[in-house]
Amino acid sequence: MKILFTRLIQSPLLEQIPKEYEVVMWEEENKIMPRNELLKEVSDADAIFANLTDRLDSEFFEHAKKLKIISTMAVGFDNIDLQEATKRGIPVGHTPDVLSEAVAELALTLMFACARRVVESMQFIRENKWESWGPYLFAGQKISGAKLGIIGMGRIGKILAKQAKALNMEVVYANRRRDEETEKALNVQFRDLDSLLKESDYVVMLAPASEETYHIMGYREFSLMKATSIFVNVSRGSTVDEEALYKVLSEHGIFAAGLDVFEIEPIQKDHPLLSLDNVIAVPHIGSATKETRDKMVEIALKNIFNGLNNEQLLYTVNEEVYKI
Ligand code: GLV
Ligand code: GLV
Repeated sequence: MKILFTRLIQSPLLEQIPKEYEVVMWEEENKIMPRNELLKEVSDADAIFANLTDRLDSEFFEHAKKLKIISTMAVGFDNIDLQEATKRGIPVGHTPDVLSEAVAELALTLMFACARRVVESMQFIRENKWESWGPYLFAGQKISGAKLGIIGMGRIGKILAKQAKALNMEVVYANRRRDEETEKALNVQFRDLDSLLKESDYVVMLAPASEETYHIMGYREFSLMKATSIFVNVSRGSTVDEEALYKVLSEHGIFAAGLDVFEIEPIQKDHPLLSLDNVIAVPHIGSATKETRDKMVEIALKNIFNGLNNEQLLYTVNEEVYKI
């Protein structure tokens, strides 16, 4: 059996890989495995330990002749052609739940950092502009008691709602399906997207990338938000029309945006959004705590072992593969 790791993974858990297995790993830290290497190495691989920067499309599947299991170290799987995987009988495993708290915490981090203008403030000190305490110096927005609108009430949204409740926030949500059980359990209320945008002081995007969610935040939608409101995206960049976001932010149609994800990653330094004082951008680090990443590696590995042993994965994205 050959397991292909598309990234350098250094973990004692790798010692659990049976000695007779072959392990091929791309070892350049924080660089993606070049496409030609990926296609070459997957051609005789039985399992792949992938991540969100690998494009597992129809070309990939044409090369993956022996592949029995795909395990991605991520919750999102918009980089994987699931139809192709299912058609070929390949289960796709991912790593939800263990990262929900970390991603929700990053959403809160961006909410706080935007609300209190933390990055701008530090820049101000660095530039030696601080002359004295000022009555309204860097006056921002309050979080306690404000209204949070969550777009996409899944695993992460529910955790974020709980955390927000501890800050005495009112929480509303928009979702493909209304979830009355969660409404009762967490004391949150359902809204259509437009109403959520009009009412909320903080809007957090958690809807996954799909055809349905492509650019669900456009100029019309951002314009519905209050001038004092803050937009945070910790999901996928494709949910947001970045040109529209730039326009609204530069017109001060909303207060600020905190962005962990972008339409094209890595975002380039000359991107218009990065020229704005009311944008805080971080490099797709939603789940990046040491503890969470360790757990993601553990689950992604377990998914591989289960898959190679013809057992059900811990978390299968394409459940229908088991019915074929
Ligand atoms: C991160 O974006 C993930 O999908 O895990
Ligand atoms: C601020 O530092 C205050 O004392 O109000």
